[in-house]
Amino acid sequence: GTRTVLRKFEHIEHCLKRNVEAHATNGFEDVHFVHMSLPEIDKDEIDLSVKFLGRKFDYPIMITGMTGGTRKGEVAWKINRTLAQAAEELNIPLGVGSQRAMIEKPETWESYYVRDVAPNVFLVGNLGAPQFGRNAKRKYGVKEVLYAIEKIDADAIAIHMNPLQESVQPEGDTTFSGVLEALAEITSSIDYPVIAKETGAGVSKEVAIKLESIGVSAIDISGVGGTSWSGVEYYRAKDELGKRLALRFWDWGIKTAISLAEVRFSTNLPIIASGGMRDGITMAKALAMGASLVGIALPVLKPAAKGDVEGVIKVIKGYVEEIKNAMFLVGARNVEELRKVPIVFTGFVREWLEQRIDLQEFVKKRG
Ligand code: FNR
Repeated sequence: GTRTVLRKFEHIEHCLKRNVEAHATNGFEDVHFVHMSLPEIDKDEIDLSVKFLGRKFDYPIMITGMTGGTRKGEVAWKINRTLAQAAEELNIPLGVGSQRAMIEKPETWESYYVRDVAPNVFLVGNLGAPQFGRNAKRKYGVKEVLYAIEKIDADAIAIHMNPLQESVQPEGDTTFSGVLEALAEITSSIDYPVIAKETGAGVSKEVAIKLESIGVSAIDISGVGGTSWSGVEYYRAKDELGKRLALRFWDWGIKTAISLAEVRFSTNLPIIASGGMRDGITMAKALAMGASLVGIALPVLKPAAKGDVEGVIKVIKGYVEEIKNAMFLVGARNVEELRKVPIVFTGFVREWLEQRIDLQEFVKKRG
């Protein structure tokens, strides 16, 4: 219990103070729009609203889960409240971080609870896949999932898949046998949407197809190019061997742009495209490739840790302006039209995708 909470603090500290991002790119440098000299629309009429899991949001951006697990008034509590106030004002979805701490130390539940400041926000709870493994030290099931959702009045639950992080940390939970079967039981037993979520190493088409077959409602692909959890663990590693292992796997995984194409082409699931989304042009590309939403975590951590609601809103409004501008320059009035504009793939991403999906077919039909 105490260890889980301590670990969370360390993660936030490293993410605030060090470079924890991938050295590799997210792949969107190989995805291109074709500029349109005659957009035949007015910039003012562009509508950024999107539908996702039965709800309508003003902007296609989600703040994905980061934290929780401290007492009221302390850092995680403050971060979640700050993000919640921003998300409420912008009408965008919000995730909280892993609620494992809350299951182990129920007195920390208020650090995840944001309904008092965000009565309408679409809120996503969060638990980790290894806790559902057959050999987990303390195995979670339907009971823990319902507790995590209902205690904070969430609208959905994200189950994070983080084998990379667990594999490079000394105390890591690498009990992944039987997770898919356990998740199948959950999706069939509860009425809330279950979102399968990576944490920075990307989801392949093979995994996505399995997740779709067991009834998950959406996938957050969280690919390579942004926060690297092997990177975070590098700073936490206590010895030479641990540091070496984490450094070796710093950029391990599937680039966000590639993961998005694989999952979009191979399933019908709504997709949250996250992992290194740092500007609105990149975000517009992800939406054009068929993502329902883009997700961000690290870019809003700093203002959130300061309790700066306006700071969080400013970061997101900046992206919104850039997305809108990109949409104007390709003549898309809304996200649906954006999915029909031409896109061109080059270089590494094209080479990869030509071996993994029917790229021509994907370019034609991404909706
Ligand atoms: C995360 N992330 C994360 N994901 C999750 O499912 N449960 C969690 O508890 C956490 N915790 C967490 C803490 C911090 C400080 C960061 C920065 C991130 C992962 C996050 O939701 C996201 O998938 C990745 O960080 C990729 O997005 P960015 O950071 O590149 O925008």
